[in-house]
Amino acid sequence: MTSIIITGGAGFIGSHVVRLFVNKYPEYRIINVDKLTYAGNLANLKDIEDKPNYRFVKADICDFDTIYALMQEEHVTGVIHLAAESHVDRSIKDPFTFARTNVLGTLSMLQAAKLYWESLPEKYEGKRFYHISTDEVYGALELTHPEGVTPPFTTKASSAHHEAYGEEFFLETTKYNPHSPYSASKASSDHFVRAFHDTYGMPTIVTNCSNNYGPYQFPEKLIPLFINNIRHRKPLPVYGKGENVRDWLYVEDHARAIDLIFHKGTIAETYNIGGFNEWKNIDIIKVVINTVDRLLGRQEGEDMDLITYVTDRAGHDLRYAIDSRKLQAELGWEPSLQFEEGIEKTVRWYLDNQAWMDNITSGEYEKYYEDMYAERPSCD
Ligand code: NAD
Ligand code: DAU
Repeated sequence: MTSIIITGGAGFIGSHVVRLFVNKYPEYRIINVDKLTYAGNLANLKDIEDKPNYRFVKADICDFDTIYALMQEEHVTGVIHLAAESHVDRSIKDPFTFARTNVLGTLSMLQAAKLYWESLPEKYEGKRFYHISTDEVYGALELTHPEGVTPPFTTKASSAHHEAYGEEFFLETTKYNPHSPYSASKASSDHFVRAFHDTYGMPTIVTNCSNNYGPYQFPEKLIPLFINNIRHRKPLPVYGKGENVRDWLYVEDHARAIDLIFHKGTIAETYNIGGFNEWKNIDIIKVVINTVDRLLGRQEGEDMDLITYVTDRAGHDLRYAIDSRKLQAELGWEPSLQFEEGIEKTVRWYLDNQAWMDNITSGEYEKYYEDMYAERPSCD
């Protein structure tokens, strides 16, 4: 029987992956292992929590004994590892927590899987350890192309640009060059995963994905934070000049890629996953403002004056852009949603699920928000 531990399943991307696997594979056993940090929320999984092929285990991935015992008890054949501290701003304030969870936690998962699988007669046969990583490990790209072509490149144009200017994107072969404590911790965890393949023969896969957006994202990240602030007519803190570029992918497309790669990806390979969808922050923020205004029945653009330029993020990476042509060519994956459709769906979801947002943004969140933004004076 296929029995898969998905770590971090109560978080943003993890909850979409758990939902997809539980619904699509009733014959599998899906075990969601999550510590329920501030970012973990079982309300993200209400619709599947009673399914017979699903089990939730509240545990810390750093707790080796518990993870090892769970692998034995559930006869685990696969691991999809998403649990992590994921927010760059928090990593700047508290790097130790990132090293503990992202580096030592990943090592604990690897070591538990290694000892359990090596204890079986068939050993690694039919097993898979799939580690979910980020494009941030590659560092930052330039804004302007040497030949004068200026990103951002949005969906369709970008494929052509990729043909011509492949080196201006992150490839699977791009050298790691992390800048933030978050990306340094993710880079380190990626190296451990690959080391377990090279040293012990563990069947591992790593994927590096660009910025995800969609339902159930914690409102510390740009898009849900700004949707909620616009709704409450609170200032929108734009870091620096708002010129940084990110490559946005709808979260369900990431979950689909994870499903495909878990089942069909080649062991020991790395796959980049991206949206071919680059936006300058300030441009995406304007799209979000217009969409929220329209859906709330306000005049489109009426909330533009909430934009507040604030002190930049320390070490703020200028541009991320993924080249995911390997995944397209080898496994036939491509993003299913155009950005306009994805952002409309996303804004609508947050506005329709205000109770979910209000629940998260009460209590401790208020203090976090005040502290974080007290440190960012307006530059206007
Ligand atoms: P998230 O912060 O929304 O969720 C993280 C989850 O991990 C939470 O449920 C949390 O409770 C759990 N967790 C944290 N520490 C844990 C621990 N010690 N033990 C057990 N569980 C723990 O994160 P996300 O945005 O869904 O990201 C998931 C993964 O995908 C991360 O590994 C991240 O690096 C990677 N990733 C994220 C993005 C993105 O845009 N969000 C893009 C590429 C890659
Ligand atoms: O690229 C993948 C990464 O994307 C993931 O690995 C991370 O887990 C995820 O958090 C995300 O990192 P970013 O730092 O790019 O995401 P964030 O939503 O924090 O910020 C997006 C951009 O918006 C970034 O350039 C910083 C800027 N920003 C963000 C916030 C929260 C603002 O200008 N103001 C804000 O208040």
